[in-house]
Amino acid sequence: MYNKKTVIPGLAIFVILVTFPVWFNGLSAGPVPKPELPPGGEKACVAPASEMRDTHMQLLNEWRDDVLRDGNRQYVKVGSKEYRKGLQMACMECHSNKEKFCDTCHDYASVKPFCWDCHLTPKEADSKKETH
Ligand code: HEC
Ligand code: HEC
Ligand code: HEC
Repeated sequence: MYNKKTVIPGLAIFVILVTFPVWFNGLSAGPVPKPELPPGGEKACVAPASEMRDTHMQLLNEWRDDVLRDGNRQYVKVGSKEYRKGLQMACMECHSNKEKFCDTCHDYASVKPFCWDCHLTPKEADSKKETH
């Protein structure tokens, strides 16, 4: 036995929730976001921008494995400057505004990397410094 009064509305809500991304994006898909580029005037990323756009997630995983497995951080050279492999030590050193860089794209693409559960954003790192 089941109760039609609750099952039918339940199903309706389920269908709405499951299809939400489809119609929500259809309604709100505005112009493709323009992530704010580093304020420091750097001209290059650790790889060409088109490659970064497509594969930065894999690159970050490779870096994490490199650092944690080898126990040392190889340096990456961009222009004349060297950066130590790491989310904060490299990426966020240039892309210092997570909200205006990483988040603009991720919000648009509806991805929520969980990295920031553990890793500090530059803003959080700064506010920790200020309290000491
Ligand atoms: C459960 C906590 C946790 C989560 C979630 C997490 N990390 Fe980490 N990550 C760590 C710890 C701990 C280290 C080791 C830090 C060290 O040795 O300096 C690390 C190291 C790394 C490193 C290399 C060292 C560094 O300083 O950056 C990279 C790159 C990295 N993580 C990327 C990511 C990315 C990308 C995500 C999201 C997809 C992520 N992590 C999610 C805990 C986490
Ligand atoms: C030396 C400074 C620097 C470092 C370090 C750096 N970036 Fe970049 N990044 C840039 C610059 C400058 C651009 C724009 C390049 C261009 O337009 O040709 C860029 C472009 C990008 C893009 C493409 C943006 C777009 O508009 O399509 C992504 C994604 C990106 N970076 C992610 C990362 C990630 C993730 C890391 C760490 C693994 C990282 N960057 C490390 C400076 C840096
Ligand atoms: C040009 C747009 C753009 C920029 C800028 C950008 N991302 Fe992304 N990112 C994406 C897209 C799109 C995806 C989802 C890709 C997919 O699922 O294939 C993604 C996925 C990721 C993932 C994997 C998340 C998951 O759940 O699979 C991580 C980690 C990540 N981005 C980190 C970063 C970090 C850190 C920055 C800032 C330094 C950044 N991204 C900047 C577009 C961008």
